[in-house]
Amino acid sequence: MRLLVLGGTKNLGRHLVESALRDGHEVTLFNRGRTNPDLFGDVRRIVGDRAQPDALAAGEWDSVVDMSGILVRDVRRSAEVLRDRVGHYTFMSSIAVYASKVIPGQTEAAELLSWPIGAPEDEFSMELYGPSKVRCEQVLTSVFGPATSAIRSGFVVGPYNPDFGNWGEALATSGTLECAARPDQPIQLIDARDLADFLLHVTVTKASGPFNAVSGTLPMAELLDAWRSVVPEQLPINWSPPTDRFHLPHDGSNDGTFQLDNSRARTAGLNLRPPEQTARDYITWIRTGNTPPPPPH
Ligand SMILES: NC(=O)c1ccc[n+]([C@@H]2O[C@H](COP(=O)([O-])OP(=O)(O)OC[C@H]3O[C@@H](n4cnc5c(N)ncnc54)[C@H](OP(=O)(O)O)[C@@H]3O)[C@@H](O)[C@H]2O)c1
Repeated sequence: MRLLVLGGTKNLGRHLVESALRDGHEVTLFNRGRTNPDLFGDVRRIVGDRAQPDALAAGEWDSVVDMSGILVRDVRRSAEVLRDRVGHYTFMSSIAVYASKVIPGQTEAAELLSWPIGAPEDEFSMELYGPSKVRCEQVLTSVFGPATSAIRSGFVVGPYNPDFGNWGEALATSGTLECAARPDQPIQLIDARDLADFLLHVTVTKASGPFNAVSGTLPMAELLDAWRSVVPEQLPINWSPPTDRFHLPHDGSNDGTFQLDNSRARTAGLNLRPPEQTARDYITWIRTGNTPPPPPH
């Protein structure tokens, strides 16, 4: 399949590109050439900015995977340029799209955030992250109809991904697992490699609509126990670290965000590796000289 990847060189996108190359797809990357420019040296690259994606008007692809769509303006522009040039559009969205952060078991049909009246489509802010993803999904559906899918993930772990916080390093260096969360806090996650394979699967099968690409829900303490089980020592957990990198409110006001219904994605082909495997691979990744990236914000 001729596959256009918007982005593809940072944390999640690089796994997607690796999966696509592994499966023999003909990949074209579109980015500015700033982030890890030496990655995928043999892959065709179109250099350009999403703010002015005119360079995309010269090609045709079976599918596009949009890994870098954050601003509504940019997604609108790429949709306009690619309207008659791609057969399918997969958009990397987020679990931040849901209006309720407390209702457990929400499916993809749950109420979404609305766009604040007068908000700018061309400026990034964390407050607009969820509404922007909703609006981007809507823009794409209005242009590509059922040839659009949106992948909604949240907490992504594994090599190259910052969401593993200090835990991966602690596992690799026999440190303390600092965890600013309640032990019974519900959590869902996904290994970046499982996410990449699902993104590719949805793209290749030209699946339609949104998907909650997340694991089943488990209590935070159970997840940490699964990770700790892969090292010989019983590593300590500090539930009240001085700095809170995880940003999870302890009062339950965000618990629904990690209790989503993933059955639509599972039925469509989402495969999930056990957390123990992610932990083992991450330890190997750190011990072979890799450094985790800084947190995104
Ligand atoms: N936990 C998570 O990380 C998480 C969870 C849910 C959803 N997401 C979503 O996943 C996506 C991010 O994943 P990622 O950062 O790992 O993606 P990525 O595709 O690996 O990296 C971002 C890519 O976008 C390119 N880019 C950035 N700004 C650009 C611009 N103005 N014009 C053209 N290209 C541009 C970068 O290259 P250049 O800098 O060279 O241009 C880079 O290749 C986002 O859509 C995010 O909302 C992430």
